[in-house]
Amino acid sequence: MPQKPVENFDKDSVLAWLIENSPAELDRLWQKADDVRCQCVGDDVWLRGLIEVSNNCARSCAYCGISLVAPRPKIYLMDKAEIMDSAKKALEYGYGTVVLQAGEDPRITGPWMADIVSCIKRETGLAITLSLGERSDEELKMWREAGADRYLLRFETSDEKLYRQIHPDLGGPSNRIAQLERMRGMGYEIGTGIMIGLPGQTWKSLANDIWLFRKYGIDMVGVGPFLESPGTPLAGELSKALRASAGDSQVPSDDLTALKVIALTRLLCPDTNIPATTALATIDPTGGRVHGLQRGANVVMPNVTPAEYRSLYQTYPGKAGTNETADVSRHKIESQILSLGRTIGKGPGTSLKYLQQH
Ligand code: 5AD
Repeated sequence: MPQKPVENFDKDSVLAWLIENSPAELDRLWQKADDVRCQCVGDDVWLRGLIEVSNNCARSCAYCGISLVAPRPKIYLMDKAEIMDSAKKALEYGYGTVVLQAGEDPRITGPWMADIVSCIKRETGLAITLSLGERSDEELKMWREAGADRYLLRFETSDEKLYRQIHPDLGGPSNRIAQLERMRGMGYEIGTGIMIGLPGQTWKSLANDIWLFRKYGIDMVGVGPFLESPGTPLAGELSKALRASAGDSQVPSDDLTALKVIALTRLLCPDTNIPATTALATIDPTGGRVHGLQRGANVVMPNVTPAEYRSLYQTYPGKAGTNETADVSRHKIESQILSLGRTIGKGPGTSLKYLQQH
């Protein structure tokens, strides 16, 4: 039998790799992904300090543990002083970037966030990534002008029907791809990603997701397994109906599939920044992050959110690092990186793809 290609892919070979289960074949994929990672982005692993600013959200995405429809014991919004303390902690720890992430909290207004972004820039000089959901162009431009460098917005799945079933409209229809394109025009480095094993997700649509990362020339791609959040529609009847509609083509939400997606993304998007995500570390607490780094990933996002808020930001249950302090997360992650013979990146870790185009 002819071997599946590990370069010059077409969409069918992405699909063939996704359903491949022979350990010897997969070793070939892992090796190639690690080689390409080493050649194209090197041995540095970039650390981004994650600050979970608010667990309030106006949307009701069917999977998410901080959505309007999910049971949340307490709603919080960090204040400016707390956010600045967390950003300074990231600086002190040597992280080159802070990521400000939150649900679509109406209290996060354009001017409020612009003030925080400019203050972080002025006082720390760190690269700033925002991950604040679907926002108006006016807000996005204001934040970019205030000093935001990057924006993360996962499109979650390229299957339009499934997308609409799990993302109820708010005002107008949700269109994340369009926002990504507009943000690129504003000069943001753009990041996206998907969940793996969403109920109703088929192998074919997953192959298409990976294909789109390349087509859209994405600077950062974050992927992780879908994990059921209790009390959300995707932990109930909707999930059963969607799984039934996918039938035998339903993608599992397991670590092996997530690692295949990371490796294939590295091969299709060689100079893109790819994190070993918290969801991967959650589904496999001992090996997830390390395997991600060995199979294509070059970024980790250690949490610097104050302990009192961490347990309230449960997009899914049992999120890795929830009961750790920022200091413990840092030491654990740094020792994992060093144990692989990799180095910790110094500086902002801007995507090479973005640097070549600017
Ligand atoms: N399982 C896995 N990932 C999730 N996210 C949200 N809810 C879940 C879940 N139940 C991911 C989404 C979102 C990111 C911030 O967290 O992909 O874009």
